[in-house]
Amino acid sequence: MHGPYPTETPQPPALRDATLSLGTRVVLQNVTFASRMGELVALCGPNGAGKTTLLRALAGLLPNSPAPDPRRVAYVPQGAHSAWGLTVAQVVMLGRIPYGDAATAPVERAMEICGIAALRDARVDRISGGEARRAMLARAFATEPDVLLLDEPTADLDPAAAHDIMRLLRRSAEAGKAVVTVLHAIDLAVQYAHRVVVLGEGRVLADLPAEHALPAIAAAFGMRVGHDPSPRLLPPP
Ligand SMILES: Nc1ncnc2c1ncn2[C@@H]1O[C@H](COP(=O)(O)OP(=O)(O)O)[C@@H](O)[C@H]1O
Ligand SMILES: [Mg+2]
Repeated sequence: MHGPYPTETPQPPALRDATLSLGTRVVLQNVTFASRMGELVALCGPNGAGKTTLLRALAGLLPNSPAPDPRRVAYVPQGAHSAWGLTVAQVVMLGRIPYGDAATAPVERAMEICGIAALRDARVDRISGGEARRAMLARAFATEPDVLLLDEPTADLDPAAAHDIMRLLRRSAEAGKAVVTVLHAIDLAVQYAHRVVVLGEGRVLADLPAEHALPAIAAAFGMRVGHDPSPRLLPPP
């Protein structure tokens, strides 16, 4: 095969009929999920549904899950920014560790697209939660992965910044990456994702094109879909 991948076409992470117990709890039950190159998938569902566990399984972080190539797959965990004392640029540079290089071009590009370049010399423990979140995202982009696995990447962001990041993820998918993101912001999930996978109590409840996903998401939360045309915020044009 020819082209940018001389040896093989990249296979994005997948699980087939996976069941996982942690302690006495069944956390994933018969879960089948495959990410695809060129696709942005949102994982939605109530707290404790197994979203983080599924993402960690895809990242190869659970016992018995095969470890993917860290140059191909980047993972940004939920919450936790533990890089105190480092500058934003140094945190983003961590994304180059799998290559053992200190290539500056991917680091600069990552800071730029994540909107954090102006804070390059700021210490990550002295910036806002949303800014730190962008720095962690930029770290993942600096790896130039084929696959991005993100756990609630918009959690600390203001609404405009959240739309910014979602557009970046959509663009990244459209440029050919496989992007899988846990999202609690249902409006962002249905607006930006290609596909929505709904989890509940460790099971896949629905796996649908985003435009058809709202009823299944509502059901997972025990909610209803309203059709009230009330005012709402839209991203900038
Ligand atoms: N290491 C662990 N040991 C035992 N139970 C765990 C562990 N990690 C997660 N769980 C349990 O698995 C369930 C799913 O967790 P998680 O995947 O974090 O859910 P979500 O991200 O959807 O909120 C929760 O009930 C949680 O308490
Ligand atoms: Mg979680």
